[in-house]
Amino acid sequence: MVEFNLPKNSRIREGKSWPAPEGATNTKKFRIYRWNPDDGNTPQVDTYTVDMDDCGPMVLDALIKIKNEIDPTVTFRRSCREGICGSCAMNIGGENTLACTKYIEDASGDVKIYPLPHMSVVKDLVPDLSTAYAQLSSIEPWMKTESPLPPDTERLQTQEDRAKLDGLYECILCFACATSCPSYWWNGERYLGPAVLLQAYRWIVDSRDEHTGERLDALEDPFRLYRCHTIMNCSKTCPKGLNPAQAIANIKKLLVERQL
Ligand code: SF4
Ligand code: FES
Repeated sequence: MVEFNLPKNSRIREGKSWPAPEGATNTKKFRIYRWNPDDGNTPQVDTYTVDMDDCGPMVLDALIKIKNEIDPTVTFRRSCREGICGSCAMNIGGENTLACTKYIEDASGDVKIYPLPHMSVVKDLVPDLSTAYAQLSSIEPWMKTESPLPPDTERLQTQEDRAKLDGLYECILCFACATSCPSYWWNGERYLGPAVLLQAYRWIVDSRDEHTGERLDALEDPFRLYRCHTIMNCSKTCPKGLNPAQAIANIKKLLVERQL
């Protein structure tokens, strides 16, 4: 849990507060991190009081309602609204998760919403993912082959080999795991982090890929891989129930085994 309260010396200011709508009897407060690069102000937390009798059940429903009906300047990413695109990842109640699959009723008290931790912020709840995407690109997340394609069929794999991709292909690249990892916080420029390493393992273990050795070579580095200290925040926080720490451990094991 990464709890955000506002210490007295915080650069994050107490911001504006919107009252409950007239006549609302069942309300919830949403405390949302706000920062606009264009106004020159330090960040602030604004408080919005929402009528829960007129709001969907998910945190994303509340954010959309706030943006549509109270304050159109609130800025966040979202697309699929069903846990598939990964774009609505943010820190809710101290936990990195997806706003669209997080029930409001699971948050006790006010719902505190911050951007993913330890990333530069583009605006409000939108983190700058440029470095993370560049790191993803560096592991070449596509099938690399040398042999010609079989003439009458796709590149096939056995059911057992296909099963090795379970728990990996479901990753939606939300980066909730990477931004919950202290090693990634402190070495994010050089350590690839759990999201990208899970993707790397997804291609290393794919029986159809023919560049396994080269992929392992590229990871054998004190920073890119070995900054993982098995803290396990990644696996605890993944909103898809995946286990990036296991994928990283599997890569380390393969690197040891190939030296035997
Ligand atoms: S492993 Fe989980 S938390 Fe990490 S990027 Fe993939 S889906 Fe998101
Ligand atoms: S909006 Fe797509 S994962 Fe939440």
